[in-house]
Amino acid sequence: YRQIPKEKGLDHTLDLLSEGFHFVPNRRDHLQSNIFQTRLMGKKAICLSGQEAARVFYDNRFFKRKGAAPKRVKKTLFGQNGVQGLDGEDHKHRKRMFLSLMTPDRLQELQTITQRLWAQKAEEWEKGDQVVLFDEAEEIMCRAACEWAGVPLPENEVKQRTTEFSRMIDAFGGTGFRYKKGKKARERSEKWIQQVIKQVRYGEQQPAPYTAAYIIAMHSERNGRKMVAAAAAVELINVLRPIVAIGRFIMFGALALHDYPDLEEKLLNTENEEYSRMFVQELRRYYPFAPFTGAVVRKDFLWNKYRLKKGTLVIMDIYGTNHHPDLWEDPEVFRPERFRGWEGHPFSFIPQGGGDHYTGHRCAGEWITIMLMKTSMEFLTGHMTYQVPEQDLRYDMARMPTLVNSGFIIENVKAR
Ligand code: HEM
Repeated sequence: YRQIPKEKGLDHTLDLLSEGFHFVPNRRDHLQSNIFQTRLMGKKAICLSGQEAARVFYDNRFFKRKGAAPKRVKKTLFGQNGVQGLDGEDHKHRKRMFLSLMTPDRLQELQTITQRLWAQKAEEWEKGDQVVLFDEAEEIMCRAACEWAGVPLPENEVKQRTTEFSRMIDAFGGTGFRYKKGKKARERSEKWIQQVIKQVRYGEQQPAPYTAAYIIAMHSERNGRKMVAAAAAVELINVLRPIVAIGRFIMFGALALHDYPDLEEKLLNTENEEYSRMFVQELRRYYPFAPFTGAVVRKDFLWNKYRLKKGTLVIMDIYGTNHHPDLWEDPEVFRPERFRGWEGHPFSFIPQGGGDHYTGHRCAGEWITIMLMKTSMEFLTGHMTYQVPEQDLRYDMARMPTLVNSGFIIENVKAR
């Protein structure tokens, strides 16, 4: 056996909170190893980084998700009894439910809805002074998500529901007030969506049979029964909330357009959509969003002569793998061209998880994310003009998830 490099000290949870996205990469660099042992939340944890580590991390023979997510994450971001914590056949069955929503026709419909909402918003912004793009993008995404999913969203609730989804996401690495706000947001949101699930089941709401609201409300478990309403609500929220999360990537996209002014011309000049696609991929690689994901060792096994023991918590470094110096040339340079002719790789580029969408835990919403980012960036560049006033455009790499300090303010908006 080889010794797994080990970080000294009783516990490093505070370092995780103060180093954020750099926690794993800092130690990987320092220890010169894609595997190392530390202690988090009072427990031994193994951190993994890079393509070969992702390959083993996404192998279901060696890892499971039951018991991987801390309670605080279930109370805010994930919810209880959702797909993220399932294993084996239960997971595959539930995952198919999500993936059945992702047909080309349904993606097209979501795109059409979103384009209409951007156009409406741009018209509103023309009349006003300044807007915070992050807030506006989240609202557009929330409206689009609910309409597309068959979830009724009364106009006077739009702001509240958007804020709830946003707070669940924002609570991930938060303590104190941020955590409390996230927990409360989840409680309120689940109450709302449970009502929707029940109304669909009783026929009081009749969303189209291909919508997420209908499919999830009527979904049969492997035992032939419907999910309990609370679990169904968690899963419907697992469709709505992450669409709202795309607002963060849109904000970073606007930041990139601002920081690299020649991008806009490239995006407008290329008739084919190749550049727009490369831009979105580089946004997903470069900017910090999901820092890492976790799993538990299912049974003792050997990897590269390292011994991993059953029951150990394992952290897979998402951000660090997307910036890994062995995998990416000049990883800290923003360069969409690196994705020209790129054919994809299930384990080196993992902004939304790695491996296979059906058999593993890779994000069910990757296609939606790419499509909505592309649609939104095309709108920002091709269908409106705006100015970016003086503001604090820094983002804090210790915060998980992070955002531009100002939320990205734009002014003098003109539709075009
Ligand atoms: C899982 C990121 C958008 C639905 C995940 C995972 C990550 C991720 C890192 C976990 C991978 C793992 O643990 O191995 C993101 C990011 C998004 C995004 C950064 C963009 C802002 C979406 C969208 C949807 C979605 C739009 C649905 C419409 C899901 C679901 C899972 C998941 C259902 C759980 C999959 C499973 O456990 O099998 N996502 N996601 N995500 N995502 Fe996303």
